[in-house]
Parts: sequence; C-alpha cells; structure tokens
Amino acid sequence: MDILIKNGTIVNADKSFGADILIINGKIAEIGTSLSATSTKTEIIDANGKYIIPGGIDPHVHLHLPGPAGFSSDDFYTGSRAALYGGTTSFIDFVTPRKGQNLTEALHERKKETSSSLLDNTFHVSPIEWRDSMPEEIKACVAERISSFKIYMAYLDTIGLKDKDIQKVMKAVAEAGGMITVHCELGEDVDRLRKEFIDNGQTIPKYHPLTRPNYVESEAVKKAIDFADEADCPIYIVHVSTKESLAHIKKAQQKGQRVFAETCPHYLLLDDSKYIGEFEQTAPFIMSPPLREKKDNEALWQAVADGTIQTIGTDHCPFTLDQKKLGIHDFTKIPNGAGGIEHRMALLYTYGVLTNRINLNRFVNLVSTQPAKIFGLYPKKGVIRIGSDADIVVWDPEKESIISAQTHHQNCDINIYEGIKTMGEAEYVVLGGNVTIRKGQQSGD
Ligand code: URP
Ligand code: ZN
Repeated sequence: MDILIKNGTIVNADKSFGADILIINGKIAEIGTSLSATSTKTEIIDANGKYIIPGGIDPHVHLHLPGPAGFSSDDFYTGSRAALYGGTTSFIDFVTPRKGQNLTEALHERKKETSSSLLDNTFHVSPIEWRDSMPEEIKACVAERISSFKIYMAYLDTIGLKDKDIQKVMKAVAEAGGMITVHCELGEDVDRLRKEFIDNGQTIPKYHPLTRPNYVESEAVKKAIDFADEADCPIYIVHVSTKESLAHIKKAQQKGQRVFAETCPHYLLLDDSKYIGEFEQTAPFIMSPPLREKKDNEALWQAVADGTIQTIGTDHCPFTLDQKKLGIHDFTKIPNGAGGIEHRMALLYTYGVLTNRINLNRFVNLVSTQPAKIFGLYPKKGVIRIGSDADIVVWDPEKESIISAQTHHQNCDINIYEGIKTMGEAEYVVLGGNVTIRKGQQSGD
C-alpha cells in the first residue's frame, strides 16, 4: 500500500525542511509540498509537529549470541521488535565462526539464524584465527557484500587475535577493499589482572572494572591504529569508552588516517558508581569495556559533538539476572553485555539534542547516516531522499517515557537504564514501505 506522510519536518544529516513524502512500492517516490494520495487506499500519516527521520541503523548488536550462560536473551525476533519500537530499522550483527570454520560457511549459517528478524540486517564477520586461506576467505565475504571484519584484541582464550595475526588480517582486509572493526582491549593485561583479583579472593562485580582500567583500552586503541596505518586499512573502533582513547583517535584522524569511532549510550550516560552494591544491582552492568568515570562520559560527549565519534551503537547483548548469576561467586564468569537496542535513539535525543550537546541533524548523522555510509548501506538507507528505501521514522518529540524492564520490549528482566526519563518516541516506523509501528504500537498488536 502507498503511504503519504504529510506536514512533518524532514530531518536529514545535512538539513531540515518541511515537506510531504510519498512512498510507493517500498521506496521514497516523491518529496514535496502539498503532495496528494495516489488512490483512496493510500495510508495518510499526519506528521504535523513531528520530525521525519531516516530509520535508525544500529551498527553493533549481538542477538542470539551463544556463550557459557546460554544465548543472549534477545533472539532475532524479540531484538528486532524492540529495535522497531525504538525507531531502528536496520542493524549489523556478528558472524563468529567456530575454530577452523570457513568464514563464508559461518556467514551462511548465521544468515539462516536471522530468518525471524523483522528488520534488514547485515553482518561484521570475525576472523578469529589466522590460516593461509584467510585472504581468499575474506575476499569471498567481500564478494557477498560483507565489507566489515571484526577482530577482538581481548578474549584471547576464545576469539581474540594475537598482534602478529591482527597485522596479517588487517593486510588481507586492506587488499580485499574491506574495513577492520575492532574491539580494543589489551587481552594479556586483562587476563593477568583477572587472575590476580580472583587469586586474591576478590570475586564480586566491583572488581570487574579494575581488571580493565582505561589504559587497557587506550593502549589497545593506539596499537590498533598503528597496525591499521601500517597495513593501510580503514579501521572502525567499536564501543570507545575512555577519554585517553579519544586522544589517539583524534590524532590519527587529524593526520588523515581513515579511523572511525563508535560509542554507546551507556558510556555516555552511566558511570562506574554502578559497580557499588549487591550482586543483583551491580551484575547487570558487567560489560566490556566497563563503565568509566564521569570525566570519560564528558569527554565522549565532547567527541560526539565535535565529530571525533561518528556513530552510536548499542552493543546490544542482554542477559537475564539468572544468566548473570553464573558468576555469582566469580565475576569473570558473569556473561558480559547489556541491552539497549530499543533506547538508543530516545536516549541520544533526550540527553544529546535536548541538552544542546548536538543538533537534530547531527543526531540523525550519528544514529543513521554515518552507520549507513561507513558500512556501505548509503544512500539506500540513512537518508530521506527520492529512490531510497522507505525506512522512515515519524518522531514525536513531545512524548515522555520512563525506561523500565516492566514495560520495555527487549526480552530481559533487567534494564541498565531503569528509571531513566526520555523525551521523544518513534510514533510511526515505516520499514521498506510497511507501517510496522503505528501510534507507538506494533502494527497488528
Ligand atoms: O560486554 C560486551 N560488550 N558484550 C558483548 C560482546 C562484546 O564484547 O562486544
Ligand atoms: Zn559487541
């Protein structure tokens, strides 16, 4: 069915303007003033007083991620549904092969797992080891339109890469015309510190951040940037959390190196005081990197505002309290991660736009346009333009909410943003020309 969105303010990354949008066959067919319906069957959405923005693109999610505590609690259906409620219409998940498994075989397996997803998605593929066939495997992924290869500097006992293998993978990715996406933490230092704390009987969640101090991230960031420079490979640093990392990123960007950076709402809004208290209160915040100090929050906001950081991802990876209890006697066994796919846009709107840290256009750039550009989805996605996919959010700037696990759509009994107030809501979400959220509710609900 055709859709006509009338009377709203279109907000793209470069400009805002009042206009109507006509959607035909899942694409944006016309943008103009006083557009008319194509037939009596056309759905008309009145967006008076609302912003019309390109659907959000979350560049970093882990749905149905397997681990010792079981799968992360949102599968592709529940996670994608929660994303839609929050105004996100595309996400990028991960392909993590088994040891010895060919990258494209792992990619095909993972694609099958996403069949219940309500949204468009693509992947970062992880080379978790080096073998001689890796350059060909990387090229084969690129031929299947995968451009991003995620490497882990932490988790050395499972999926992390040692320095010499990082350098080889970066060279292979550069030759294939791809980009490296990197989790920056010095794996050996983390492993040593974790052992020291546990050996000392320091087993509660409070010690988690002390095993991953700021330098563990920022020194890894510096190393990854240097390796990428040597390999002449573009690099995207995920979930940047420290002030010190930003200094390395900024320096490299200023000298013209292709370095992109992402942060997450939790690193902007929450701090390490969350690790003080009982297990039930603190375990939900076990994630890597850990929450930092307020000075890091402020430095990250500054970097979001000045363009050092290009994207906001969520690292959505929720676990229930029962799953977190796997580490009740040993914080190193607590599954790492937290949910946020539903709240990314409202949090950034409330605490970024409404506090004047960023303007509306930069908001759109961070949550949609830059992820689309960096990961090869633009201009199909990430912009409201004739010919683009009709992935569109009608954003109600006046709607107030309080985040709670009681009311969220994420499949988890805990929410790290519990009690936080937000303004702004996805009142309508159009995905590929279908209205999936109507008046704040899933269509058909
Ligand atoms: O703590 C986190 N970030 N969990 C998700 C997996 C990862 O390391 O990105
Ligand atoms: Zn992640």
